[in-house]
Amino acid sequence: MTAEEAKKKIEELTDSINYYTHLYYQESTSKISDYEFDQLLEKLIELENEFPQFRYPHSPSQRVGGTITKDFATVVHEYPMLSLSNTYSHEELIEFDRRVAKGLNDQPYEYFCELKFDGVAISLLYENGYLIRAATRGDGVRGDDITHNARTIRTIPLSIKADNLPVRFEVRGEVFMPRTVFNKLNRLREEEGEALLANPRNAASGSLKMQDSALVAQRQLDCYLYGLVGEDLHVLTHADAIYALEKWNFHISDTYCQCKNMDAVLEYINEWEKKRVEFPVDTDGIVIKVNSHEQQRILGSTAKSPRWAIAYKYKAQSAATILLDIDYQVGRTGAITPVAHLSPVKLAGTIVKRASLHNANEIARLDLRVGDTVFVEKGGEIIPKVTGVDVSKRQPHSQEVRYIAHCPSCNTALIRKEGEAQHFCPNIKGCPTQIKGRIEHFIQRKAMNIDSMGKETVALLYEKGLLHTPADLYKLTYDDIFILEGFKDLSTQNLLKGIEASKSTSFENVLFALGIRYVGKTVAEKLARHFGDIYKLEKATFDELVNVPEIGERIALSILNFFEDQDNRDIVDELKEAGLQFEIVEEKDRHESSILEGKSFVVSGIFQSFSREEIKEKVRANGGQIVSAVSGKVDYLLAGENMGPAKRKKAKSLGVSIISEQDFLNMLTT
Ligand code: IVH
Repeated sequence: MTAEEAKKKIEELTDSINYYTHLYYQESTSKISDYEFDQLLEKLIELENEFPQFRYPHSPSQRVGGTITKDFATVVHEYPMLSLSNTYSHEELIEFDRRVAKGLNDQPYEYFCELKFDGVAISLLYENGYLIRAATRGDGVRGDDITHNARTIRTIPLSIKADNLPVRFEVRGEVFMPRTVFNKLNRLREEEGEALLANPRNAASGSLKMQDSALVAQRQLDCYLYGLVGEDLHVLTHADAIYALEKWNFHISDTYCQCKNMDAVLEYINEWEKKRVEFPVDTDGIVIKVNSHEQQRILGSTAKSPRWAIAYKYKAQSAATILLDIDYQVGRTGAITPVAHLSPVKLAGTIVKRASLHNANEIARLDLRVGDTVFVEKGGEIIPKVTGVDVSKRQPHSQEVRYIAHCPSCNTALIRKEGEAQHFCPNIKGCPTQIKGRIEHFIQRKAMNIDSMGKETVALLYEKGLLHTPADLYKLTYDDIFILEGFKDLSTQNLLKGIEASKSTSFENVLFALGIRYVGKTVAEKLARHFGDIYKLEKATFDELVNVPEIGERIALSILNFFEDQDNRDIVDELKEAGLQFEIVEEKDRHESSILEGKSFVVSGIFQSFSREEIKEKVRANGGQIVSAVSGKVDYLLAGENMGPAKRKKAKSLGVSIISEQDFLNMLTT
């Protein structure tokens, strides 16, 4: 293929991929199978590899990310990104309407209403039809350049083809994480022992500021646009701007409504008060805008916010109930978390019995007393929170809450570090809850996966004095376990087998299992891959640590802290002695057999027990070779479900054996 032909083909593929992406993510339809879509993308990537001079920043291949941004450059917004003033009542809205009418000298005007999406404001700059810069709002004047991260958001057009497209314009909108994505992400984090994200807004804002755009791509962010700014845009109203953006394939929520007057606005507000609960994206109100751009200009802005727009905020759903007691939990890191026990109450469809109280400051701020009638709210948060007290219902002689001064597990005096809100039990090595917590963390599925052992067994072995550190697990004998309550021959053997099997767990998992503060599963994987083995990590300096993408100062300090402790180094040595993996195993070394030596495979379609990548890996691990296209030289076409008929036909005509997933597995066992 000549360069000229390649360029043309790349453009064609880009157009089709953009078209199908738009259909899929914005119109919720697909005209081709996922597989066919992947093929288009694969073909594009292949051509771009061959002709890298045509790999453009706006190519859909760039959406998978892979760029590391250590420091986000500051950008100055061409037009400041103002905020909106808030109202909470119909009266205040009518007041706003009066000010608008007065400002416009009673000429007729209309409103345009939208939902107020609860995410992170973004500015997208386009020139000659290409996205050239994406920035956060920052302080409204200066924001951060997050172009690489924004490119991974599937609904943000990277290039636009349209007649009469303005040469240069800026689009503004809100990046968000859909609630289902947020819940899935938090479930995963919970399983992995990582701190939960407070709400979808924080998740979106944290994701946008990640250094590795490949990780941002996995966060499945989305973006609704609601504003167009620039010169010579040829739009007279906000409605025109929205229609233009729709035409140019921007993601516009179809929840907007043009309203003749304030009565119509109030109707819209009422309608969405109920409907917004089911809306897949968190919203915290309605934005009301004067529709005409000329009238917007006449009304102008204050330093902070426009006079032509206002936000109406819904009150969060809340319920009143009685605070029965406060309980204090000790985490494996010694952090103390106060939890409110409530008289059960129904809130947003679920029964609430417990609520987080965060820390001592929060309890003092609320001036909580046991027996108080308290308000609980469920915002974007999964765990409901206590937001206030109905002081009028307070019992006489009620006592202020005295925050505990000693650890509920070991009675050590609690400490609070400078600048931290949380109390800690400093008895890291002696506090039974922390000791058991570290071992429970170590054996969990996402860590060493010793599933033959549970919390109760950890407690029993700890009480018998047999289990203090994770290294003690590998010293347990048959007799140690057999005498435990509830254990018989088979269960004892099972437990020992589980412990033995854990020795082949990958270094990434072992590192996570060690339970270094702030080193969650993803961080552990990054560190393992970067340093390769535990001793290099142990010797790493602060500077070397913060130079690893996604590793900030907080994590670096925590790692240094961990390895400064001789006891921790001893535990690592003992675990190494016991045979645990403390080195990364390179992909190429994951050799299983040579059974497929000299055989080439094309892998296509969807498989039952593997992802496409995994099954390819399996082929390689057994000595086989992967090729991308069917030709006469190929030995096997490994066909999953939904494989395109053209490929099957071609394989048949060339006499290539077509095998199923099961056939393939059989090949490996014979
Ligand atoms: S218009 C001049 N429309 O709310 C301000 N903002 O407090 C123009 N927001 O920073 C903003 N949904 O992040 C507008 N439909 C919507 C919105 C919206 C959410 C956010 C935006 C802005 C903040 C203003």
